[in-house]
Amino acid sequence: MNFVPDDKRITEIDMGTKIIGTGSCLPETVVTNDDLSEIMDTSDEWIRTRTGIRERHLAKDETTAGMSAEAARRAMDNAGITAQDIDLIIAGTVTADHVVPSCACEIQAAIGAEHAVAFDINAACSGFMFALNIAHAYLQTGVYKTALIVGAETLSRIMDWNDRSTCVLFGDGAGAVVVQRTDHGGLLAFDQGSDGVRGSVLSCANRTNNNPLAETSRQLEYVHMDGQEVYRFAVTTVPASVIKTVEEAGLTVADIDYFVLHQANARILQAVAKRLKLSEDKFPISLDHCGNISAASVPVLLDEMNRQGLLKPGMKIAMSGFGGGLTWASAVLEW
Ligand code: UT7
Repeated sequence: MNFVPDDKRITEIDMGTKIIGTGSCLPETVVTNDDLSEIMDTSDEWIRTRTGIRERHLAKDETTAGMSAEAARRAMDNAGITAQDIDLIIAGTVTADHVVPSCACEIQAAIGAEHAVAFDINAACSGFMFALNIAHAYLQTGVYKTALIVGAETLSRIMDWNDRSTCVLFGDGAGAVVVQRTDHGGLLAFDQGSDGVRGSVLSCANRTNNNPLAETSRQLEYVHMDGQEVYRFAVTTVPASVIKTVEEAGLTVADIDYFVLHQANARILQAVAKRLKLSEDKFPISLDHCGNISAASVPVLLDEMNRQGLLKPGMKIAMSGFGGGLTWASAVLEW
């Protein structure tokens, strides 16, 4: 999908969207699989062989907005811009610290991006990718020039720590990118979708109605996941979405240097690589030391790759997020 109208009435349609800086921030505390096995009936062997996860960072005092602001500062530093340059802040998160104000508004206040408009979007593990694609749409119309896109979660606060089938999978953290309009390269194509009918396979209920007329209880709920259904969804939807986006960009999967995918399970990455008939070397991994950090996983991995010098100008990168909603979103960009 792209935003180039048939009649070309918009004059800046040739503009692309380029990632010019990345940053990330993880909580200080690292919790290994062995640490978890001391507090629940699980083992390093089960978690590693089923998922590839060795350890995750869990928040003690860190907040979603606090980690986001730090990731944003690092991304701005990497991009060589100041908060004054930012027009737009979009945060993808399902664990904002407050219902209101949004995480994005809290980030705006923390970094002093006084000229920016800021809002959150909820697309679960696809949140960062949805936010990136929304920013791309804004930038292509010429409404804004520089955007800060954040994916951030404190998932440990919405986990049921008595449910070993979910709580061992997830972690906390934040990733951010700065994107800017560019006249060549950048984001070449994107695809995104939702399937609300299947939403119950990965859910977390909000607070129930507490007004005097309501008969419901006040209990908050935690994340509930049908892991096998989500797995099946991921290994069918992600390859299809990636292939569609790559073709939309005028490329083949063989042209892609790296596939930066949502980090839910190493077996999902292996299955996607197999479907695309590609080497697993093209599928970098951070879930081994981060666990699944939902909306934060793609930007945190991208930042790690950027800081390791793996991303070179001209490289073609495919990114994809998938998860609750159900939702999915992919993008192909030239670095
Ligand atoms: O970002 C959102 C996207 N989420 C995902 O992509 C998740 C996709 N799904 C998955 O990654 C996998 O389905 C899981 C890793 C969540 C689970 O793997 P599985 O191979 O589907 O395991 P299972 O749920 O079928 O459970 C197998 C066994 C069960 O025991 P029995 O009934 O066979 O005796 C579970 O009770 O493993 C048991 N089990 C555990 N054992 C030790 C479940 N959790 C644990 C645990 N430690 N933490």
